Amino acid sequence: MSEQQARAALVVLISYCFCVAACASTSIPKPREWPHQFHSILMMNYSGELQIIDLWYDWTNGRNFNIIQKQLDPNVVYDLEWNNGTSFYYTLPSNSNSNSDSDYTPYCSSAQLQVGILRPNWLDGANYIGQRHLDGFLCNVWEKVEFLWYYEDVVTRRPVHWLFYTGRAAHVMTFEVGAVLEDAKWQAPAYCFGTTNYKTDRLADNKRKASI
Ligand SMILES: *[C@@H]1O[C@H](CO)[C@@H](O)[C@H](O)[C@H]1NC(C)=O
Ligand SMILES: *[C@@H]1O[C@H](CO)[C@@H](O)[C@H](O)[C@H]1NC(C)=O
Repeated sequence: MSEQQARAALVVLISYCFCVAACASTSIPKPREWPHQFHSILMMNYSGELQIIDLWYDWTNGRNFNIIQKQLDPNVVYDLEWNNGTSFYYTLPSNSNSNSDSDYTPYCSSAQLQVGILRPNWLDGANYIGQRHLDGFLCNVWEKVEFLWYYEDVVTRRPVHWLFYTGRAAHVMTFEVGAVLEDAKWQAPAYCFGTTNYKTDRLADNKRKASI
């Protein structure tokens, strides 16, 4: 081999190595950031206990709402979080829920957390673990260690499913990017701000362990 041929071969080899390194690092899929505002209907399954959650994610206004319908439960539960760490967990009086008991006493539990709502990039740093079929969709899957598994549709890049380490599973039924719940609906009821009729923070603690 002439010196010229050897040099050419070396150039080819070096370019190849660069390409392998560069191509490999860009080919590991990353989860798409959450849109700053969206509405999603989630079907939740917690070891066979089913719920429908109306999720209103509103990063722009620093707020996140889970409106929770447990299966055949007459009282809808409202789980409202603000980005300043204040959260409210409440039900409404019976006349707001046509199928509720007439003597139902609503409750509210509020809590002050160190952290605000999930950031749009909350999945940064999740480990890619490959592709799986879930709910009939081919998904890229990531794991946030000891916290959750996240499934995103390979084609549309919409979230399909997430599963918490607690066993609580969300199946994404709708995903409306840009949908915003009107301001008036974000007002927690007056009894969230009084000193009476507060339940302990047990409810809030439980939901923080179990939900998003
Ligand atoms: C809910 O999850 C349980 C396992 O925890 C499973 O047996 C059941 O089929 C699921 N129900 C639905 C409606 O997906
Ligand atoms: C956080 O914001 C909400 C909504 O504006 C408000 O009700 C709450 O009092 C605030 N909390 C703190 C600690 O400022």
